Amino acid sequence: MSHKRIGFATRLGAIAATVGSAVGLGNIWRFPYEAGQNGGGAFLLVYVLCVLLLGIPVMLSEFIIGRSTHQNMKGALQTLVPGKKVYRLAYICITGALVTLGFYFVVCGWVLQYLCHAVTGEFSGQTSQEYGLLFTRLIESPWAMLLWTWLFMAVNFVVMLQGVQKGIERIAAIMMPMLFVLLAVLCANSLLLPGAHKGLQFLFNIDFSHLGWHGVVDAFGQAFMSLSLGIACMVTYAGYFNDETSLSRDAFTVAGLDSLVAIMAGVMIFPAVFSFGMQPEAGPKLVFEILPAVFQQMTGGYIWAILFFLLLLFASLTSTISLSEIAIKFLIEEHNLSRKKAIILTAVLSTILATLCALSFNVLRHWTVFNMNLFDLLNYLASNVFMLLGGLGAALIVGWLIDKKVIQRQLAHKGQRSPRLERYLIVCVRYVAPIAIVLIFLQLTGII
Ligand code: PHE
Repeated sequence: MSHKRIGFATRLGAIAATVGSAVGLGNIWRFPYEAGQNGGGAFLLVYVLCVLLLGIPVMLSEFIIGRSTHQNMKGALQTLVPGKKVYRLAYICITGALVTLGFYFVVCGWVLQYLCHAVTGEFSGQTSQEYGLLFTRLIESPWAMLLWTWLFMAVNFVVMLQGVQKGIERIAAIMMPMLFVLLAVLCANSLLLPGAHKGLQFLFNIDFSHLGWHGVVDAFGQAFMSLSLGIACMVTYAGYFNDETSLSRDAFTVAGLDSLVAIMAGVMIFPAVFSFGMQPEAGPKLVFEILPAVFQQMTGGYIWAILFFLLLLFASLTSTISLSEIAIKFLIEEHNLSRKKAIILTAVLSTILATLCALSFNVLRHWTVFNMNLFDLLNYLASNVFMLLGGLGAALIVGWLIDKKVIQRQLAHKGQRSPRLERYLIVCVRYVAPIAIVLIFLQLTGII
């Protein structure tokens, strides 16, 4: 069955959507708390190395798989590696996408609630402890958690049902640069706080004593999460790219901007953490406890807060749209569902997971595995298991299985091949990425 191709109209549209997918809560909420829990500078170093040696090559691999076939992950693998069972990797990717949606929607709900707090002026005149309480009160209330999570999900799926995600992505192309500028303002503000240098020292001083093997896995998982890798998201989006765009330029641009936003989030958060006498190891609540305190001491904090949470909401929406599209495209192409049915099925499945995650802080808090509630578990599994496994699979497929001519053709730009780029990709996806990922898995499971 042939399917209508709904490509991105322009190169800018394609890149904006891809950056929109990559830049999201992963950069602004997750990166700071992961770095905070894993000793700061050493985590950042491993993260950057991982982006260069694993992230960009895996992104290029996903681009190649997607654009050479214009299909969902399963169809693409069946076309590129016919007669083998490698297409089964697609099931890991789709499951990974749903697992990610499950916890991600909950955090989007927090952002929505905080936007509401910002509008109603809830942040003014409170102490640091009270900001902590504000967050605790939210997560301990099952109804509040459900309300905000479901509200965000409703927006996401209504946007997709109406087929207006292109419109959202167009708005995001304006909002993203605004978010970037706002982050720069917030970084400057944080750097002027008393004792800011301690935060910078924490983020940029490389001290491996606080980074164990678990921290290394976290850094790898964080890089993959932040770049939207390992769960076929980039395969899906590259399927909508036109054949003229330079994949390498896009991959470097997306990875560069994405990492820059993560580092800026670190510069915004850590000086404030130390200046306000808070703990960098606070975990997922870190950003939600620090930011209100930051806004409260800023001139015009009321407006900054609203603007920030609004822009963050858009950044999150472009990420959840891309996450949902992975499953939707798969269901349409592999199970012949109409787009509407595929969206509804994806909505139902992710609602079940997100509901359980939203309740895992309150009524279901006793459901724990390895000391993690369901939210923490899905958050961990998504990045450190599904994305790393999926990324490993994509690397091995491009490195060892697909026809080299496909790689050469996809990496060429305006008919011009680039041997250096080809070599970088092949060395990384054949050897560096597989060895690195397998080694940390073996280390984690205690085999070596
Ligand atoms: N990269 C997104 C973020 O940083 C999350 C995401 C992961 C989106 C995987 C799509 C696919 O927020």
